[in-house]
Parts: sequence; structure tokens; C-alpha cells
Amino acid sequence: MMRELCICVLTVWSAGAAVPPVIPGDSERGAKLFENERCVACHSVNGKGGKMGMDLSARVDRGFTPALLASAMWNHAPVMWSAMEGAGIERPQLSPSDAADLFAYLYSTRFFDKPGDAARGKQAFADRHCAECHGITESRAEGAPPVVKWDSLGQPMVLVQQMWDHSSRMREAFARKKIAWQELTAQDLSDILAYLRNLPETRGVNTHFSFTTGEGGQAIFEAKGCVKCHVGKLALEDRLHNLDLTEIAVDMWNHAPRMIQPVPQLSEDEMRQLLSYLWMRQFVYAKGDVGRGKQVFAAKHCAECHNGGEHGAPPLPGQGRGYSEITIVSALWKHGPQMFTRMRQAKMAWPRFSSPQQMSDLVAYLNSVQ
Ligand code: HEC
Ligand code: HEC
Ligand code: HEC
Ligand code: HEC
Repeated sequence: MMRELCICVLTVWSAGAAVPPVIPGDSERGAKLFENERCVACHSVNGKGGKMGMDLSARVDRGFTPALLASAMWNHAPVMWSAMEGAGIERPQLSPSDAADLFAYLYSTRFFDKPGDAARGKQAFADRHCAECHGITESRAEGAPPVVKWDSLGQPMVLVQQMWDHSSRMREAFARKKIAWQELTAQDLSDILAYLRNLPETRGVNTHFSFTTGEGGQAIFEAKGCVKCHVGKLALEDRLHNLDLTEIAVDMWNHAPRMIQPVPQLSEDEMRQLLSYLWMRQFVYAKGDVGRGKQVFAAKHCAECHNGGEHGAPPLPGQGRGYSEITIVSALWKHGPQMFTRMRQAKMAWPRFSSPQQMSDLVAYLNSVQ
């Protein structure tokens, strides 16, 4: 059950230096881990699994970020660990890569970030003329796949790619049918998905979410000509901050009329690279504030042990480890129990974070050079 800890972040990282590559995550690997490490004995996902811990798919229905996972897990860790001891379940070690897989899995089970309304979605699917070409089980226009055949229904990254790829062709198809181009809002799309994903024909559709290091993303961004427009005020690194994938999918769709023709096509793989580079990176390396992080570090008593090396604690920050919200999850399972023991000896309560933002601030501080 012990996993070898791999330190996947090789780049030495300090404030202002290049951000280390994203540690790739895959929901299928995460799902296996969730079973193999017996998380499933206590936690259910979409109603399946143990009941001692909370259902991890339903707990937060929007804005599920690595920072949220890290802070929630940190806050509950000691109670969870003693529950594990009581149940005779060995505490797993999670490598940073395991933590990334776990995040991908939990993210995939929630699917999109915004709750949608199926009744409204049904209406929107008709009003926006989608239903004229897309039947649920049959195609109503040449080349328009029926909904049951949509890969994008279970894969957020693919949805973004499909919305981009088909937007230009659909623009022509709309023109031929003398239908005006249909702009969508993120809420429209969330509603449409809530409707389409809950039909008897599509229930149980496989979900998959994975991201890569994003290292090839810059090259694709240049090769596809995105960089021609997206510099300066239009730079996407800044614009995509705080957007979720539904919003990006909709932006891609609404983008079509503004695009140069012919629109450069992006394969599924290229889109995954691009999104890992543009979006996932800012998601994993959320913008924390070093100054606020320093305050958190003091207020939560971390500094009492970590500044002067008390209680055998390694000096933090300044280790140059390249922490992220994902690697904190791994560090928590590896070092947390020992830390908890030392805290009890020092008669300190286990510190809890009052928001995911505090976790991001803390991470920014841990990565700052002292
Ligand atoms: C022996 C039962 C048990 C096992 C096994 C277990 N947990 Fe937990 N977990 C709990 C309990 C109980 C809580 C709530 C603790 C509390 O109330 O403070 C919890 C809380 C959590 C939370 C915080 C959830 C939130 O939204 O606040 C996360 C995340 C979590 N567990 C993930 C995991 C993962 C991942 C695994 C497998 C590596 C795992 N748990 C294994 C019992 C367990
Ligand atoms: C005029 C006909 C037409 C209309 C109207 C239309 N589509 Fe499409 N759609 C197509 C065709 C054709 C394809 C396949 C295009 C291709 O292969 O490039 C497609 C593909 C798609 C896909 C990709 C499916 C996959 O494999 O994952 C999605 C998602 C989609 N459409 C959503 C919509 C939505 C949402 C609307 C309404 C806003 C809509 N479509 C309206 C013709 C249409
Ligand atoms: C011809 C110029 C042009 C090119 C080329 C271009 N875009 Fe855009 N893009 C725009 C404009 C204009 C906007 C709208 C900005 C706004 O709404 O303020 C936009 C918006 C976007 C948005 C939404 C950003 C937001 O703030 O919500 C995304 C995502 C995006 N583009 C991705 C891409 C990608 C990926 C490529 C390359 C495959 C690309 N664009 C190529 C002009 C371009
Ligand atoms: C009572 C002393 C004590 C307190 C308080 C404390 N720690 Fe620790 N911490 C330790 C010890 C001891 C270790 C090493 C545990 C081990 O070797 O497994 C450690 C390890 C760590 C590590 C792993 C370092 C590495 O090598 O990657 C991190 C990250 C960390 N602590 C963060 C925190 C944060 C954040 C807080 C405040 C919320 C905190 N600690 C509070 C004692 C403490």
C-alpha cells in the first residue's frame, strides 16, 4: 500500500521565477486510487461507497479547486486519521502525482462547475435551435451527431475542443438554415448539460478528466496563431484566471464570429495541452498573496515550529520545493501524522483554514524565498 514518493517537480522555483510544470492528473487513475487506498470504504462518490465520511462528489457543487481540496482535507485530517485507525485502515501515502490523479477524479465526478437546471436546459436546447440538428438518439441534420454519441457529454476538455472546432462549421450551417448565430451564456450551457446528461439514454455516460504538464501548450498557442491576437490586454493567462471550463467552452463557441477564417483546427490532444497550459496552470498555481500567506503562517502557529526548527520541523519557507495546492495534499498525508503528534506534545490544536484562499496564500508564502 505504500507508494514510492516521487518528487515530480524538478524545477527549482522561487517567487518571480518560472512556474513549475503542472503535475499531470488523470481521473481514471484517480478512481483506482480511491478504491485501492480504501477511501471508498468511508466516502461515497455519487452515492456509491461508505457513509462514515461525506460524499465527496456532492459536497461542493461549484468551484471545486485544488485549493479547496487541500484546505478541506487539511482541516479534517486528524479526525479522518483517527477514523482510519479505528477502522483498521492503513493510512496511505499519496505522491504528488497521486494527489493530482485524485483531484482529477473528484473534479470529473462533479463534472461542470455550475449547477444547471434541466428544465431550463431543455428549453434552451430547443430555443437555440440545437434540437433541430441534434436528436437525442438520432441525427436530424447531415453530420450532426445525436446527443448519445457526444464524447463531450462526459469530458469537459473535449467539450471545450468540440465547441471550438464546430463553431465555425456551425456558423455556416446556421447561415444556410437562415438562423442567426446563437450566442450562449455559461448558464445556458450548464442548463443544457444538466438536461442532456440526465436523460434515460445518457445516464451513466462515462466521465473523464485529465490534464497534462502543459509544456507543449506554448508551442501550440504559437503554431495555431492564437498568439497573434492574444497578447497584451488580450493575454489569455490573465483572462482565464477564475473561469471554469464551462465558461471557457462557451467563450470558445462565442468566439467564432471574431475569428480569422479559416479557423485553425485543434485536435482533442492539442486542446488538452493548450488548456493545461493556459488554464490548469493558473488553477493549480492559484494566485496567492505572499504577505497574507505570511500572516496565515503566523496566525495558524506554523511559524512556531517551522521558523526556528522547533520540534524537528524543517525550516519553512525557503526549501525551494515548489509547493502547490496539489503537492500540499501529498505533503499532508506524508508529514501530517508526525506533525499532529508533535502538536499534541506541544499542546497545540490542529490548525484549520477558514477558506481555500488562505491555503493559496500559504502556498505562495511557502514558495517565497526567505
Ligand atoms: C475510516 C474512514 C475514512 C477513510 C478510509 C477515508 N476518510 Fe476521508 N474523511 C473521513 C471522515 C470521518 C471525514 C470527516 C472528518 C471531520 O469531520 O473532521 C473525512 C474527510 C475527508 C475530506 C474533507 C471533505 C470535505 O469536503 O470537507 C476529504 C477531501 C477526504 N476525507 C478525502 C479522503 C481520501 C482521498 C481518502 C483516501 C485516501 C479518505 N478520505 C479516506 C473518513 C475517512
Ligand atoms: C444546423 C445544424 C446544427 C445546429 C443548429 C447545431 N448543431 Fe451542433 N453540430 C452540428 C454538426 C454538423 C456537428 C458535427 C460537426 C463536425 O463534425 O464538425 C455538430 C457537433 C456538435 C457538438 C460536438 C459533439 C461531440 O461529438 O461531442 C456539440 C457539443 C454541439 N454540436 C452542440 C450544439 C449546441 C449546444 C447547439 C445549439 C446551440 C448546436 N450544436 C446546434 C450541427 C448543428
Ligand atoms: C483574430 C484574432 C484572434 C485569434 C487569432 C484568436 N482569438 Fe481568441 N479572442 C479574440 C477576441 C477579440 C476575443 C474576445 C475578447 C473579449 O471578449 O473581450 C477572444 C476571446 C478568446 C477567449 C475568451 C477569453 C475571455 O476573456 O473570456 C478564449 C478562451 C480564446 N479567445 C481562445 C483562443 C485560442 C485558443 C486561439 C487560438 C486557437 C484564439 N483564441 C485565437 C481574438 C482572437
Ligand atoms: C508542533 C510543530 C509544528 C507545527 C505547529 C506545524 N508543523 Fe509542519 N511539520 C512539523 C514537523 C515535525 C514536520 C516534519 C514531519 C515529518 O518529518 O514527517 C513538519 C512538516 C511539514 C511540511 C512538510 C515539509 C516538507 O518536507 O515538504 C509542511 C508543508 C508543513 N509541515 C506545513 C505546516 C503548516 C502549513 C503549518 C501550520 C498550518 C505547520 N506545518 C505547523 C511540525 C510542525
